Amino acid sequence: MGYPEMRPRRLRTTPAMRRLVAETDVPPRSLVLPVFVLEGAAEPVPIPSMPGVVQHTLDSLRKAAVEAAEAGVGGLMLFAVPQAKDAVGSGATDPDGILNVAIREVVAEVGDASVVMADLCLDEFTDHGHCGVLTPDGRVDNDATLVRYADMAVAQAEAGVQVVGPSGMMDGQIGAIRAALDRAGYTDVSALAYSAKYASAFFGPFRDAVQSSLEGDRSTYQQDPANATESMREVALDVAEGADMVLVKPALGYLDVIRRVRDAVDVPVAAYNVSGEYSMVEAAAAQGWIDRERAILEVLTSIRRAGADIVLTYWAVEAARRLR
Ligand code: PBG
Repeated sequence: MGYPEMRPRRLRTTPAMRRLVAETDVPPRSLVLPVFVLEGAAEPVPIPSMPGVVQHTLDSLRKAAVEAAEAGVGGLMLFAVPQAKDAVGSGATDPDGILNVAIREVVAEVGDASVVMADLCLDEFTDHGHCGVLTPDGRVDNDATLVRYADMAVAQAEAGVQVVGPSGMMDGQIGAIRAALDRAGYTDVSALAYSAKYASAFFGPFRDAVQSSLEGDRSTYQQDPANATESMREVALDVAEGADMVLVKPALGYLDVIRRVRDAVDVPVAAYNVSGEYSMVEAAAAQGWIDRERAILEVLTSIRRAGADIVLTYWAVEAARRLR
């Protein structure tokens, strides 16, 4: 017999053969599009550090939501930038606050065609830019923040949200939100817990997108990038507190965490392909340094291969159209 005896290349000979044996795919239904809406905007405002992404008006947001649903995108994650910010993030719990208004309008527009989710966090609404309320000496007050999150969850549920996305990394946030939703009668509203969220430099462009006024960082509540085992603890706590789905964020530097979480829990696992990951690819592609379309598909495929059932990505609509 000739050498080599084994020839793995046989299964790579034609596009049809490669398609037949592919282990991973990226179905449009698994993609979630994060969207931004700016209160009072007369027209969509481009975000300079995220080429191709805008802060929507309510009008353009509704259109973008319909477009995404028509492309087969599985869900939308809503973020809002209010005109006025204060120490406790009052806009977040105001039924007429921009995020709650946006939820109401998007739900009315897309109905059941796509799942409507909203960010549940105070950083877009606070003048100091932290994800919670502060103690008199300026530290993030965990338990006082839980009270705000509980009220915010109920306000979003009243607006018609189907999934709340608590992203503030406060201890006990899932339990507090679940209890508040159930008490208010919203037993069907789900929680997508941002369980393993790292204090990451890759959120940089997002902070432009929401005009965050944060000085300093979030290291006293978001996780140290050095830790993976700690994520297992965070995820276990969230599942025990009633999380319907869990999320790892960012995605690309944390593929090992996605895999460990996928192997450890029996709820759907999401991963957030964050702003900095998006902008790196867009910037390199704009320079002609990488093939944009191939890079996007490779990024999304890798996150799925690591074990994510659901991928939040700013490329959701474009990718869904190409993958359909
Ligand atoms: C917090 C939140 C952040 C992102 C999503 N939700 C920013 C942060 O924690 O600083 C980042 C998303 C991205 O970078 O694309 N509300």
